[in-house]
Amino acid sequence: MSVLTISAITADIGGYVGHSAVHPDLSDVALQRVDAAISQGLLIDGAVNSCGDDINLVMTHRHGVDAEPVHHFAWDTFVELTELAKRLHLYGAGRDLPADAFSGNVGETRPGVAEMEIFERPSEPLIVFAADKTSLGAWNLPLYKIFCDPCNTAGLIIDKGMHAGFTVEVYDLIERRKAFFNCPEDLYDLLSYIGHHRTVRDQACLSPGNPDDPVASTSTSLLSLIAGRCVGKDDPIMIVRCQSGLPAVGEVLEPFANPHYVAGWMRGSHNGPLMPCALDDAHPARFDGPPRVVAMGFQLADGRLVGPRDMLGDISFDRARTQALEMDDYMRRNGPFEPGRLPIEDIEYTTRPQVVERMHGRWEPIEEPTPTPAYR
Ligand code: F6R
Ligand code: MG
Repeated sequence: MSVLTISAITADIGGYVGHSAVHPDLSDVALQRVDAAISQGLLIDGAVNSCGDDINLVMTHRHGVDAEPVHHFAWDTFVELTELAKRLHLYGAGRDLPADAFSGNVGETRPGVAEMEIFERPSEPLIVFAADKTSLGAWNLPLYKIFCDPCNTAGLIIDKGMHAGFTVEVYDLIERRKAFFNCPEDLYDLLSYIGHHRTVRDQACLSPGNPDDPVASTSTSLLSLIAGRCVGKDDPIMIVRCQSGLPAVGEVLEPFANPHYVAGWMRGSHNGPLMPCALDDAHPARFDGPPRVVAMGFQLADGRLVGPRDMLGDISFDRARTQALEMDDYMRRNGPFEPGRLPIEDIEYTTRPQVVERMHGRWEPIEEPTPTPAYR
């Protein structure tokens, strides 16, 4: 059995129309490049899909995680797509790819990267999730449910392969630190770190599994910190392996049947429900949203990607879609008031500071009131 690497890399190359979708010409060119990389032996296989204005490459190869040739390939692909996006005058073309030269790892620049090295099992079902108009913390609640909540994952109770639970690695991207939590023993401690959506400060991301035997991997690049301002949300991606001692496909999909509120949506500044979508419906519209998630199911066959199957397009998620739209109605009634809008500290990387500047000098300290006796 040889080690196989799965790399899922996503980036916003330029929107069609506005920030809503990827132009089909970009997907065609990306697919041609992936096919060429397969012919040249760099990749075993590759798939090109999108969610909203983010294109994603799912690739299998034998070069390991953070492999320079694979990251370079993804980077060059995004650069070529950017040139095409510029020719089509697509919206924000090239805005998310920093002008600096490639540093050897795309994760240190704009694109979101989820990668894992695995020993491919005789049958290896896995799901790649991609979301748009939200941030990395969007995966926290689903991952908690999938790997730590027996009300979601019946296998935690009745499958001896996972009865001992999972180890969860949490990234605190603001403090630049990470820690492992062994669940269920450390469950309450884990929840004290991952139970918020704050997109900038104290961001924590889940990446469950033992590093030597990963079962899930999420992207962890925080765009606002790289760019110094919000030029969109981080639009996360993640890979989850399924079945045979791991959560079943249905257990992995189950959290998305109950849309949860995530940070993002319009101008990266609002809370909205994460709406599960078919691949063909993953095009944000209302208030630039609502935030969307798609799920691409694959079977691996000696590294080849058999798929994708559109897992969240199934009718069993229709009610979740309806529920998400009702949640939209409620949240939009809040307009720019919390919790419709994110807390002030979470939107400090948006364009708001430029507006706040105008009020500089208008604010005065509040004088302490002179105590007035109630009776003279
Ligand atoms: C959110 C997003 C959009 C834009 C909005 C304004 O992640 O991408 O909601 O923030 O459309 O975009 P600009 O500033 O490019 O006009
Ligand atoms: Mg996007």
